Amino acid sequence: MILVYWLVLVNLIAFVMYGLDKAYAKKGARRIPERSLLFWAWIGGSIGAFLGMKLFHHKTLKVKFVVVPVLAVLEIVICGFCLYQNYHLTVTEYEADLGLENDLTIVQVSDLHNQIFGIGESALLKKIEAADPDLIVVTGDAVDKTHTSYSISLSFFKGAVKIAPVYYITGNHEVFLRGPKTDAFMDDLRALGVVILDDTYVDMGGYVLAGIGDASLGSFNAYGPFSDEKPVIMLAHEPQYHSLYESLGADLVLTGHFHGGQIIIPGVGGLVSPEFEFLPDYYEGMRSFGSTTVILSRGLGNSIIPVRINNYPELVVVKVH
Ligand SMILES: [Fe+2]
Repeated sequence: MILVYWLVLVNLIAFVMYGLDKAYAKKGARRIPERSLLFWAWIGGSIGAFLGMKLFHHKTLKVKFVVVPVLAVLEIVICGFCLYQNYHLTVTEYEADLGLENDLTIVQVSDLHNQIFGIGESALLKKIEAADPDLIVVTGDAVDKTHTSYSISLSFFKGAVKIAPVYYITGNHEVFLRGPKTDAFMDDLRALGVVILDDTYVDMGGYVLAGIGDASLGSFNAYGPFSDEKPVIMLAHEPQYHSLYESLGADLVLTGHFHGGQIIIPGVGGLVSPEFEFLPDYYEGMRSFGSTTVILSRGLGNSIIPVRINNYPELVVVKVH
């Protein structure tokens, strides 16, 4: 979203600059230097600059301004590519055998980071509905520390609770944002019927659904290891604490946090982790760690690094048997 705001801003500025310069030219007033007009086109405002040239019939015959329509075409191609890379929703399906009496379909939403997928998150909710889940789990970073619009995230939850029961744990971004606004957000979630599973668990009958809040990952002591009596499905934001999850007796853990490494290099893997580890060994998919199976979602949104490439937003559907 930051990139979108930037592009809108510089294109508007470029458009206004070309209009102003034309008006100055007509009045015989002091002009805006040509290098300034070109500068705004070069830093991402080429579409606005080109529209300004056309609409105000300005600089259209100047040879050095031939670069502006070329940059505008390039910008349209790059923007189209990036939009597709960052908003093309994909669904990944996994199967997990925990010996359940009744099959269970879980939809996992991770790392939304206030990303918008349609009005009121309609595109995302439609995909979730199509999976016909028994429960929806949200594994942290529903909000984002750099653009703290709780209303976007809340609109997702409002739609999700109409589809299936929603269980939620916090990620590192909710921890960053701790304070009155986040407390109010949590109250809104509870009012919607969302179950906050930070450091607690629920006996779901045939299995246990447990959660760990991100703030507790380094020093977890909220509950002891589970017995083998029932399978344990656990929600935790960060996959790298897999030894903790195994020690607690988790059979299946749903995690996120890594954003697929932001850019997936074909044949190599995800480029960078949120901790700025380059080419992390584990950046997506299902993997076993001892007796615990971890699913690592690539998530849906972005944070510090605002672009995904070859790493489409991912909704995870787990069919548990
Ligand atoms: Fe995240």
